Amino acid sequence: MNAMRKMDRYRFRVSLPKRTSELVALIAISSTFFLFLHTRDLNTKLREMEVRLQPEDILTSNQLMSGNSAPAENGGVKAMMKLLQSTGEMSSLEPNQLNNTRKAQQDVVFFNRVPKVGSQTLMELLRRLSIRNDFGFHQDRVQRVETIRLAPEDQAALSALVSSYEPPSVYIKHVCFTNVSSFGLPEPIYINLVRDPIERVISWYYYVRAPWYYVERKIAFPDLPLPDPKWLKKDFEECVLSNDRECRYIRGEVREGIGDHRRQSMFFCGHHVDCLPFNTEGALERAKRAVEENYAVVGVLEEMNTTLTVLENYVPRFFDGASDVYWNEISRFNPINKNNFKPPVSEEVKDIVRKNFTKEIEFYEFCKQRLHKQYVALKLNKNKP
Ligand SMILES: *[C@@H]1O[C@H](CO)[C@@H](O)[C@H](O)[C@H]1NC(C)=O
Ligand SMILES: *[C@@H]1O[C@H](CO)[C@@H](O)[C@H](O)[C@H]1NC(C)=O
Ligand SMILES: *[C@@H]1O[C@H](CO)[C@@H](O)[C@H](O)[C@H]1NC(C)=O
Ligand SMILES: *[C@@H]1O[C@H](CO)[C@@H](O)[C@H](O)[C@H]1NC(C)=O
Repeated sequence: MNAMRKMDRYRFRVSLPKRTSELVALIAISSTFFLFLHTRDLNTKLREMEVRLQPEDILTSNQLMSGNSAPAENGGVKAMMKLLQSTGEMSSLEPNQLNNTRKAQQDVVFFNRVPKVGSQTLMELLRRLSIRNDFGFHQDRVQRVETIRLAPEDQAALSALVSSYEPPSVYIKHVCFTNVSSFGLPEPIYINLVRDPIERVISWYYYVRAPWYYVERKIAFPDLPLPDPKWLKKDFEECVLSNDRECRYIRGEVREGIGDHRRQSMFFCGHHVDCLPFNTEGALERAKRAVEENYAVVGVLEEMNTTLTVLENYVPRFFDGASDVYWNEISRFNPINKNNFKPPVSEEVKDIVRKNFTKEIEFYEFCKQRLHKQYVALKLNKNKP
């Protein structure tokens, strides 16, 4: 594994000028491109459908914001301030130390978006900001089979692709954290978004059962059998309580395919084999390390205002005016809507799932605290004479 990485680095450093690396990236995506040509028109339609028919992903943040989440949002920040005061860290808190944007060596934002955390909204925000703030907007094409964990050569090709865009640019793809600099290429600005891991897994469960999801898949891949009606009707509570294999979350278990959607930490851990086993310390530590060392900002869906403020201040070249665009252009025109196929899930059942998601919850809390710290550091700076 290590040797392979070194080889990749060597190859890219030594023998590949910019043009050639673009070519390599092109070849690497050509298999997808083949499929893309076949279904180009379809994909355009699907993309439109996706925007129209994924109300939940787009709107959860609005629902959360228009609900009574304000106290919770401010509460988290206040608690962080108290904590920092009590430990004496408050006086030494500096935005610079929490600012990974400073480490970036190219003005390219790499948003390796996690599904079902409202990242569609952040993507739409970036699309609008790209016009306002004048930067390139690039996103991976819609893929029916999403591979988020890549072989080293594919990681190298992806890193080359990211580095091939003319800065300033943003590139968006569902993929595990890819350490671009480990391939001898300049460090981009990493951003992402997370969400309460239990809510996310429930959201995913009903998302794959919603008609628009499987009808789309059927259109794209006609040979796929339509799902069993019994499976479609199965509800999450029943699935957990009956110890159904689909809703069993076992520590150390490895389950690849649709990118192991149970864990958002997978998107931060990276492509290493240690990232595969569910709810393990090793995977958690890797994910935390990447957030700490590489990510400029990891936003939190439940705390959109804090997220937007932190993005505006820590990645200003791209996010200047983000709150304004978000509140005046995006949230205003999205009617409050819901995935009607998602029934409520009892706290009792959520608690059962929570017991097995300890590392995921820890990761989520870690990201939240980091966001709060970044936010508090800003406040401090403003209050300085
Ligand atoms: C977030 O900001 C918007 C616009 O400034 C405001 O209307 C809303 O009440 C805020 N929400 C929370 C939860 O603080
Ligand atoms: C990314 O790669 C660089 C260069 O090889 C290395 O120093 C760094 O520790 C890596 N970061 C992570 C999170 O793996
Ligand atoms: C939680 O983990 C325990 C121990 O591995 C297992 O017996 C149980 O079935 C799991 N529960 C769920 C809901 O995944
Ligand atoms: C973080 O670093 C970027 C790039 O140097 C800079 O534009 C931004 O103002 C910094 N933000 C904070 C809060 O330090």
